[in-house]
Amino acid sequence: MEVKKMGKICCIGAGYVGGPTMAVIALKCPSIEVAVVDISVPRITAWNSDQLPIYEPGLEEVVKQCRGKNLFFSFDVEKHVSEADIIFVSVNTPTKTLSLGAGKAADLTYWESAANAFLAQRISSVNAMSALCEATGADVSQVSHAVGKDTRIGHKFLNASVGFGGSCFRKDIVNLVYICECNGLPEVANYWKQVIKVNDYQKNRFVNRLVSSMFNTVSGKKIAILGFAFKKDTGNTRETLAIDVCKGLLGDKARLSIYDPQVTEDQIERDLSMNKFDWDQPIHLQPLSPTSVKQVSIAWDAYEATKDAHGVCILSEWDEFRTLDFQKIFNNMQKPAFVFYGRNIVNVEKLREIGFIIYSIGKPLDPWLKDMPAVAQY
Ligand SMILES: NC(=O)c1ccc[n+]([C@@H]2O[C@H](COP(=O)([O-])OP(=O)(O)OC[C@H]3O[C@@H](n4cnc5c(N)ncnc54)[C@H](O)[C@@H]3O)[C@@H](O)[C@H]2O)c1
Repeated sequence: MEVKKMGKICCIGAGYVGGPTMAVIALKCPSIEVAVVDISVPRITAWNSDQLPIYEPGLEEVVKQCRGKNLFFSFDVEKHVSEADIIFVSVNTPTKTLSLGAGKAADLTYWESAANAFLAQRISSVNAMSALCEATGADVSQVSHAVGKDTRIGHKFLNASVGFGGSCFRKDIVNLVYICECNGLPEVANYWKQVIKVNDYQKNRFVNRLVSSMFNTVSGKKIAILGFAFKKDTGNTRETLAIDVCKGLLGDKARLSIYDPQVTEDQIERDLSMNKFDWDQPIHLQPLSPTSVKQVSIAWDAYEATKDAHGVCILSEWDEFRTLDFQKIFNNMQKPAFVFYGRNIVNVEKLREIGFIIYSIGKPLDPWLKDMPAVAQY
């Protein structure tokens, strides 16, 4: 049997998965020609320019090193597919918007739903524990540490936060729920729905805690939002919890100053004014009116965002947020100065010493917060 030497691979879809994965394959396998094709002309044009459409640490260097040598971005899908020895498919699998299964079913059947649903379930589980910790004075980090020591459970995906975001988790659970419903399994469907409900509850809880701590209203107050991408080291904002938190605060007429190291102003404005699919969405997630968009400004750095702010929300765990000069931030803020931690990344005690009033998910509450109701009273 003749064994053909493998020379060319092609990836259909130059998105968050296809682009970076193929760039690394090209780097590691210089003898293989890698073509990444896409029907989106702006996306391919961006991959061929100095402004790549996607941010990941080190990606730009890898692309610059390989592009034009053994890595090519093209919209000539047919040509590259027909020439390839191996074809990867990494196109998006959008949720149906019309007819049977609208808002619930994937246009393609996918195998990743179950794995993602299990991962999301772990996050909702630890987030549910974080609420209990706050109510009882326990520390969720210690609970996670102890639980994670059990090798049957392990330590991954046990960090409490404002909730999960990203393109996959919610979408895959919604699909799973739909498949269960179609197969006459309403109890199983309801079980998985609960994972999303806890996620929405956690976001609402964060907003409620923030509003109630700040004298029951954020109307007219400046709140700095640090981090808008759904996690650190990406400019990807799909399903980011920052959208929900911002909309919740804008609902109470806060003025927001948003800073993220990678997300553009255009993207933030688009995200905040978009109309989400309203399957089981909390009520505050309505599209924003032009008036509320005016309550949002985008800052160039964390210091500009927090200047004269009444409160700061840290929503994603970018490394640069760990090393901020919090004394400087405190000096330039209104008093009392509040910090609300959506991710437990900074030493809370040090910040308390500076003078901040701090809320950190699942941690023992500040004396100030203990006296405040968990939900704003109107
Ligand atoms: N398992 C996981 O944890 C995980 C994580 C991320 C993404 N994914 C999956 O990977 C896939 C890709 O995700 P992504 O984030 O890169 O999506 P993306 O939306 O960033 O990119 C998809 C790209 O495919 C292109 N495309 C769509 N239809 C096409 C076609 N017919 N021909 C050529 N190009 C086409 C789009 O223009 C887009 O640029 C999705 O199915 C997603 O669900 C899985």
